[in-house]
Amino acid sequence: MSSIKAPRGVRDILPGESWKWEHVFSVTRKVAGDFDYREVHLPVFEHTELFSRGVGETTDVVEKEMYTFEDRSGRSLTLRPELSASMVRSYLENRMDKQHQPAKLWSAGPMFRYERPQKGRYRQFWQIDFEAIGSQDPLLDVESIELSLELFRRLGLSNLEVLVNSVGCPACRPVHRKALQDFLRPRLKELCESCRGRFDRNPLRILDCKNPTCQALTEDAPSTISCLCDECAVHFDAVRKGLAMIGASFEVDNRLVRGLDYYTKTAYEVLSGELGAQNAVCGGGRYDNLAESIGGPHTPGMGFAAGAERIVLTMEEQGCSFGEPPRCDIFVVHADDSSLEAAVSALYDIRRAGIAADMDYTGRTLRARFKTAGASGAAFACVLGPEEIASGKVTLKDLRSGEQQAVERAKLVDFLKTAL
Ligand code: HAM
Repeated sequence: MSSIKAPRGVRDILPGESWKWEHVFSVTRKVAGDFDYREVHLPVFEHTELFSRGVGETTDVVEKEMYTFEDRSGRSLTLRPELSASMVRSYLENRMDKQHQPAKLWSAGPMFRYERPQKGRYRQFWQIDFEAIGSQDPLLDVESIELSLELFRRLGLSNLEVLVNSVGCPACRPVHRKALQDFLRPRLKELCESCRGRFDRNPLRILDCKNPTCQALTEDAPSTISCLCDECAVHFDAVRKGLAMIGASFEVDNRLVRGLDYYTKTAYEVLSGELGAQNAVCGGGRYDNLAESIGGPHTPGMGFAAGAERIVLTMEEQGCSFGEPPRCDIFVVHADDSSLEAAVSALYDIRRAGIAADMDYTGRTLRARFKTAGASGAAFACVLGPEEIASGKVTLKDLRSGEQQAVERAKLVDFLKTAL
């Protein structure tokens, strides 16, 4: 056993689990196509200022959680903690504004955040991220929310809570900020230390504090919805109507604020009771000013990201189906050294026909080779020995029933294609 272990908060996704991920990604890919989103692959590290400016200097992600390092040229780089800022960077850099709008993009891959590891929370975790950039149509918000719900539906997830809110825009946020600070000022001493720190810098985040005292103190705090400007109120109304129109079930949660600063107007989260404290399967919203905050022109956008580990965990806990695990169909067994060449040749004929096949590589006894064949999960062992070679046949042994039959070597592949 190696004495070097994986760093805290990261996981190996081993074959016993990776096929489940494969299922999640293949369903995701199909839903993406059905909603006309195209896949992109983006870099795992970016310039640090993309996140500090895009996600926001006062967010937990930027203040405490980024994996930032200097490269050999002394440049500050950061392992991406999320994808929206990178997506918008890529949209601007690749002049996607010149193409059909909105650009509808999706991507999946590992993100990195220095958080305290616990169930459903890791330091390297995978997100499935969808973004629609270049339109402020509220129907795009509806599409994005429904896309996530359709994905979860197709994966078989149930009992999900869908919470939707509007966090306003730079026009109405100062009104809410002031109302919130006026409400909180007399209660400031009773708030937890982190919330006292947030009071001036980012008071909205106080509504998101998990501390029960802070939650009780902010129960009657002014909501973002109560302070929306006309434009945001009209937008939020259209999103609610659109969601109702397509029969999406959701609740308005006027306490919902998201941990990233770029949100404007719509914000939403999908929660699962199966996950414990880290109960968000997905979160997203509109970010109409993100492009400007990273130095681009005004470019509205809307999207969400779902945590792959949390999807798989919830699916496991809810007993959802992942389809069939992959298995090897045929295990080729040579009876002795003289039949090895014929066995290897049969193995590659089978594989070249697109049938999953394997052989034993441990070079042990025939008995051990049969044992490996049995443990492989294969449907048939294809046995070649001197007798088979002399008669131009192979022995096919059904590894479940133990039944055997002779099949002509020349017709082996055709036979397997119909037998499997
Ligand atoms: P977020 O809420 O920070 O949003 O993350 C989205 C999802 O990623 C969460 O709901 C959760 O499922 C998963 N997640 C986050 N942190 C962890 C972690 N440490 N371990 C495991 N899973 C985690 C964003 O990242 C936004 N960029 C989403 C977005 C896209 N908004 C608009 N477009």
